Amino acid sequence: MDKFIIEGGRQLAGEVEIQSAKNAVLPLLAASILTDERVIIHKCPRIMDVLNMIQILNELGCRTDFDGETLIIDSADAANHEIPSALAKELRSSVFMLGSVIARFGRARIAYPGGCDIGLRPVDLHLKGLKSLNVNIAEEGGYINCNCGKLIGADILLDCPSVGATENIILAAVKGEGRTLIRNAAKEPEICDLQSFLNKMGAKISGAGTSTVSIEGVRRLHGVEYTPIPDRIEAGTFLIAVAMCGGEAEICRAAADNIAALIHKLREISCKITVKNDKIYIKNGGTRRSLRMIETMPYPGFPTDLQAPVTALACISEGSTVIVENLFETRYKHVPELIRMGADITVRGRAAFVRGVPRLHGADVVAGDLRGGAALTLAAISAEGMSSVTDLSHIDRGYSGFEYKLASLGAKIRRIRV
Ligand code: EPZ
Repeated sequence: MDKFIIEGGRQLAGEVEIQSAKNAVLPLLAASILTDERVIIHKCPRIMDVLNMIQILNELGCRTDFDGETLIIDSADAANHEIPSALAKELRSSVFMLGSVIARFGRARIAYPGGCDIGLRPVDLHLKGLKSLNVNIAEEGGYINCNCGKLIGADILLDCPSVGATENIILAAVKGEGRTLIRNAAKEPEICDLQSFLNKMGAKISGAGTSTVSIEGVRRLHGVEYTPIPDRIEAGTFLIAVAMCGGEAEICRAAADNIAALIHKLREISCKITVKNDKIYIKNGGTRRSLRMIETMPYPGFPTDLQAPVTALACISEGSTVIVENLFETRYKHVPELIRMGADITVRGRAAFVRGVPRLHGADVVAGDLRGGAALTLAAISAEGMSSVTDLSHIDRGYSGFEYKLASLGAKIRRIRV
């Protein structure tokens, strides 16, 4: 198991380039089996979730070649409709594969993706949406078995704007018969990226980014060469790092509009932020006024994936901050570890009440999930003294070269194998 060894307390300065969005790339990989022609994805991040998804594609019979940041997928010989259970459990987002595997083979089998580190993570909206498209679904023995004579377009209303369910329905409907409407669809930028990827393959999708997405089924999709959007959560993580440590940095290849909610908050607490094309420039002299209230919401509200990092920021901001996590049931695993670093936080249900302290002190902490691990790392580089962060497998799922990027900004952080 790897751990970070961190000597905190240094200001940050320099520039970092943002990777392509994990949560955009994963559905694009699922979409790649909708054609038997070659798919090339440029600037593909080498993170564990992507490597696991590639392994699933290989198990389905796809040929893949991942050289540097260029990923080539050739699914001409794909023939297996069963998503391997070990990988399905490892990777929540494997459930997105259902829609595209059914569209390709007329059937799919996947182990029920268990609850994971941030909550129950149900898939009822995915299954309801697929059933609306004429898919027969049997859940037995921990497996979901799907089969379908012909995917037929439908008018689907989602009970909540689920990102994964929206993507799964798009992937199933894109080659279905007739038109599909998804109402109360998720509006995340990653949905827009999936729409532009599929339309480049010959799909007819419109409305992504609004609450109604329309898909006109087409008979065939052709190969594509594509560069995904930058990772808004990684960009937000580095902005919060500068806000916590003080200093200044340039975040390159960042889509500022996609994290407007965070930028608005950071300006409120006295960070100086300017945006020029795809660069975000942030400067913080060390003052951090109170964040007051953070409520996580579906896009364009404050993103749940930045809740843990912003909780770490609240720990060393003036006054008190109330944080409400509306999306997931147990997304506060980082709180007990922050308290060990001297934070003053009380959690009641979905709310965390944070009273700011001048500084955190170093401690040996354990990451419990992806974004919580990032939050603990930010807390450690801003704290006084030495810290270690253990169980980096969570961080490695979603951040490529996290410690190298932080070190290039001046943080004293290194990875050791124990
Ligand atoms: C996606 O997860 C992201 N993952 C998550 O990022 C992100 O936190 C989440 O969207 C919200 O933005 C990927 O894109 C791979 P949801 P997803 O379905 O699709 C409920 C990260 O750290 N729900 O939008 O699983 C669910 O319980 C990860 O990068 C149902 O009730 O999220 C939750 O309360 C973590 N039934 C809410 O919807 C369903 O069938 C939002 O979940 C599906 C979801």
